Amino acid sequence: MKRGSRAHWGTRLGFILAASGSAIGLGNIWKFPYITGIHGGGIFVFIYLFCIAVIGLPVLLSEFIVGRAGQKNAVESFEQLEGGKTAWSTVGWMGVFTAFLLLSFYAVVAGWILHYTGQAITGAFSSGHDAEAIKNMLGALLGDGHYQTMLNGGFLILTMGIVMMGIKGGIEKASDILMPMLFGILLLLFLYSFTLEGNGKALEFLFSPKFDQLTPQGVLEAMGHAFFTLSVGAGVMITYGSYLGKKERMMKSAVQIALLDTLIALLAGVVIFSIVFSFDLQANGGPTLIFSTLPTLFVQMQGGGILSIAFFVLLTFAALTSAISMLETVVSYFVDHTNLGRKPVTLLIGFFAFLVGLLSDYSYNKLSDFKIPVQFLFGEELVFFDLFDKIVSNLMLPLGGLLVSIYVGWKLDRKMLQNEFSAEERKYLPLLILTLKYVCPILVGIVFLYGLDFTRPIFTMLGLVK
Ligand code: PHE
Repeated sequence: MKRGSRAHWGTRLGFILAASGSAIGLGNIWKFPYITGIHGGGIFVFIYLFCIAVIGLPVLLSEFIVGRAGQKNAVESFEQLEGGKTAWSTVGWMGVFTAFLLLSFYAVVAGWILHYTGQAITGAFSSGHDAEAIKNMLGALLGDGHYQTMLNGGFLILTMGIVMMGIKGGIEKASDILMPMLFGILLLLFLYSFTLEGNGKALEFLFSPKFDQLTPQGVLEAMGHAFFTLSVGAGVMITYGSYLGKKERMMKSAVQIALLDTLIALLAGVVIFSIVFSFDLQANGGPTLIFSTLPTLFVQMQGGGILSIAFFVLLTFAALTSAISMLETVVSYFVDHTNLGRKPVTLLIGFFAFLVGLLSDYSYNKLSDFKIPVQFLFGEELVFFDLFDKIVSNLMLPLGGLLVSIYVGWKLDRKMLQNEFSAEERKYLPLLILTLKYVCPILVGIVFLYGLDFTRPIFTMLGLVK
C-alpha cells in the first residue's frame, strides 16, 4: 500500500463484525458468567446493563470519534487532532502499551482454551469419562510451563497470520467468517439449554434481580467489566475507528456493537448456568467455572461430548477475534511510524508478545514463588500473570477510558465533534457531551481508585466496602 493512503474496512457489516469480534471475547463467555455468579445474579446483570449504557457506550463512541477523525493509529490520531505532539499523545501511548500487555497474557489463557478444544475434539469430555481426572486438568495444565508456552505460541501464530493479511483481507475477512459461526454455535447452545432441567432456574437467577443482594463491590466490578468487555481504554477502538470512512454513522454502530456484546454475554450466561443448575451446583464457582466445573458436567450429560466441542470452539473464536484487535493496535502504530511494512512489524510485535508472555506461561509453575511486591497498589504480592491482569484491568483500562472521555468531552474542538455525526444523530450530542464531561469521569474515576489498594481506607470510611 502507498504510504499515506490508509486502509479502510470494505463494508459496514465488516466493521461491525470486526469491532464486535474485539468486544466479544473471554470477557463475555468466561468472565461475565463467573462474576455474575459471584455477585448474586440478576442484580449484577441489572447494574452491568446500566454501566454499559451509561459509561461503556459513551466511551466506546468517543474512541471511534478520535480514530475516525484522526485517521491514524491510537497515538497519532491524537496528534492529528491536536495539530502536533501534546500530552494527549501519551493517552495513545498508554493504549498501545495496554493492548500489548493484555495480548501477552490473553494469549496464554487462549492457549489453555486451545488445549481444552483439543481435548473436547478427541472426546475427553464425552459421557462416561472420569470426572475426577478432568477436575485435575486445569491444575496439570497450569503446572506445565513448557506446554503452555507451546499453546501460547500456537495461538499467537494464528493471530499474527490474520493480522499480517491486513485490514480488509485479514481482520475483516476473518471476522466475516468467525463471527457468524460464533453466533450460530452460541444460538444452538442457547436453544439446547432450554431442554435442560436447570434452564428455568438459570433464567430466574440471571433476570430476576434481588435488590437485597446489591453490594458496592458488585457495582464497582460491573463498572470495570463494562470497560473490559467493550474493549475500551486500550486504544483498540481508536484503531478500528481509524479504518472507518467518513460516511459511517458512528452512533448507530456503537449502539449495535454494545448491544451485540451484551446479548452474547447474556446468552453465554444462560447456557452456562442452565448446565450448572441442572446439577444443583452453586453459581459462585469463580474463575474455574468453565475450566473445571463445566467440563466435569459435560461428561455427565447426554451428548456432552458434542456440547463440549461446540463450547470450546466458540471460546477459541471469541478469543481469537479479540486478540487480533490487540495485536492490530500495536501493529498499526509501528506500520504508520516505520518503513518496515505490515508483515515484518506483525512478526516482531507478535514475537515480543510471546517473550513477555513467557512470564505468564511460567507464573503458576517455575516462577510461582517469584512474587512481585505490589501490596501498596493491589494489596498483595502477585505472580506475573496476576500482576499483568491487574495492571490492565484495574488500572490501565479505566484510566485510558477516563482520559478519552475527558478528551472528547472537554478538549476536542466542538466543530470537529459535530462533523463526526449525521444531522439526525446530532440531537443526541448535548446528552453525549454531558455524559462525557461529568458522568463518565466521575464514575470511572471511582472504579480506578477502587482498583488501588491504598485508597481502600477511603472506601471503607464511606461504608462502601467492608
Ligand atoms: N473485550 C475483550 C473481551 O471481552 C477484551 C479486550 C479488552 C479486548 C480490551 C481488547 C481490548 O474479552
